[in-house]
Amino acid sequence: MKKFLIAGNWKMNKLTSEAVAFGEDMKGRKFENAKDVAILAPFTQLAALGAALEGSGIGFGAQNVHFEQSGAYTGEISVPMLKEIGVNYCIIGHSERREYFAETDETVNKKLKVLIDADITPILCVGESLEVREGKEEQTFVASQLYADFEGIPAAQAKKIVIAYEPIWAIGTGKTATPDQAEEMCAFIRGVVGGLYDNETADEVLILYGGSMKASNAADLLAKPDINGGLIGGASLKADDFASIINSANELSK
Ligand code: 13P
Repeated sequence: MKKFLIAGNWKMNKLTSEAVAFGEDMKGRKFENAKDVAILAPFTQLAALGAALEGSGIGFGAQNVHFEQSGAYTGEISVPMLKEIGVNYCIIGHSERREYFAETDETVNKKLKVLIDADITPILCVGESLEVREGKEEQTFVASQLYADFEGIPAAQAKKIVIAYEPIWAIGTGKTATPDQAEEMCAFIRGVVGGLYDNETADEVLILYGGSMKASNAADLLAKPDINGGLIGGASLKADDFASIINSANELSK
């Protein structure tokens, strides 16, 4: 049976009061597959969101972290700080962080290691730009990200990393990869993980699709064999839309 994770990336949206209301709404819906759901919120909302979700089974987490445990890094947040709040997940290497905040495969790799050591599940984002896809270099590009991001991470730890394939040209554009395009890359990613490690690790690793996933296209994307779920931006901000995607995954897991 295929495993799912439906993860909402709120990016820089919502106030704490809105996050709490959303968390309470989600908890009240009593999803059968609540343990396969996560909300990735801004740092300031995490403690209150975690409290609102308590007992629901729904996971929550951050959208970035620093790789040092503490020190003179003004404006940064460390893994122990996230751990203290009880977060389960953390997005790493989102294309917006790579583009606007100088995230590199080297810092991504360091962040993956400290998160796994702390037993927080990383959601590692990879994906190509439109220019790279038009040059038919998307597989080479994504493979090179994966090789660098997984450098020095043993198989037992690698299988705990959730990989999100997010083609940059599909993020926030309303232009979704077709289910076949998304499946092709997610299967390719699984193959790269198999090559780096072994078949067991490749089978176990969760691979999500992200990029304009919404209620109307989720079921078709989630039905694909190598797509274990979604990393959802815009559609995760509205409770009914997000719930509809969660329910699509639940239907497919029956
Ligand atoms: P959208 O769903 O808004 O396209 O965002 C996708 C994304 O970047 C999730 O991390």
